[in-house]
Amino acid sequence: MRIVVTGAGGLVGSALARREGVVGLSRAQLDIREPSGLGTYDPELVINCAAQANVDAAEADPEAAFEINARGAGALARRCAELGARLIHLSTDYVFDGRATRPYGEHDPINPINAYGRSKAEGERLVREAGGTIVRTSWVFGAGGRGFVSQVLARLAAGEEVRAASSQQGCPTFVEDLVDALLALARLPMLPPILHVVGDPPTTRLDQARAIAELVGASPERIFDTPAPTGAAPRPAYCVLGTTALRALGITPRPWRDGLARVVT
Ligand SMILES: NC(=O)c1ccc[n+]([C@@H]2O[C@H](COP(=O)([O-])OP(=O)(O)OC[C@H]3O[C@@H](n4cnc5c(N)ncnc54)[C@H](OP(=O)(O)O)[C@@H]3O)[C@@H](O)[C@H]2O)c1
Repeated sequence: MRIVVTGAGGLVGSALARREGVVGLSRAQLDIREPSGLGTYDPELVINCAAQANVDAAEADPEAAFEINARGAGALARRCAELGARLIHLSTDYVFDGRATRPYGEHDPINPINAYGRSKAEGERLVREAGGTIVRTSWVFGAGGRGFVSQVLARLAAGEEVRAASSQQGCPTFVEDLVDALLALARLPMLPPILHVVGDPPTTRLDQARAIAELVGASPERIFDTPAPTGAAPRPAYCVLGTTALRALGITPRPWRDGLARVVT
């Protein structure tokens, strides 16, 4: 199957593009806002990893986030439909408001509380309108990058203390596990409209930071609870995505601690 990945310069896109037989297109090769050139690659399936995924930058410039995460996603989805290519579009736990007390199901009402989440929610709507499949994920980490795991590692390496919120609950997801699941989904003839793909089990940012410290042999006393998440944009407190639909397709969420060990050691 000819699989084309957009946003191939990013964390998820680059991990996908390293897999055999996957064609990765960076932003320079294909801007999702102007996807007319997609036909050149004759895709059977497109996985859209292109996004403005910086939550605080989106809060500062919501229009720029909307342009890519909503209008860009919609333009790509319509182009895929014209070409007869299936589309898997990546979305986020941040479409929810974080007030739940049990894992979010795929069809629970969305209610984003920051600009990034609003732009992704509108992207979901436009992608669904054009017949694409939504895969929501959360707290993705891999080697390098600018995410939470990298920040904690850098602070520990610099001998600094780490502040992480026990009030923030979610599912860390190792990028290679996410890629395995996406490629397994790509092989299925039919997909439900929305799926959650995350690591297991749910945890807090505080416990995730402690797990990182343990793996690098740093003292857990350098990890402190903080009442509020860091960053300019508000973050939903409870971001646990339920995976019943994924399991029904025969795909079991992987333990994020195993992925963490691969990144850290
Ligand atoms: N990382 C997470 O924790 C997380 C959690 C939940 C959901 N997600 C979702 O997963 C997907 C992938 O996220 P990621 O972490 O891999 O993000 P990322 O590392 O920021 O990568 C996004 C990529 O998209 C590219 N891009 C931006 N605008 C584009 C455009 N108009 N056309 C084509 N490419 C464009 C970026 O290129 P430039 O660098 O040149 O701008 C970048 O290479 C996103 O949909 C995100 O919302 C991520």
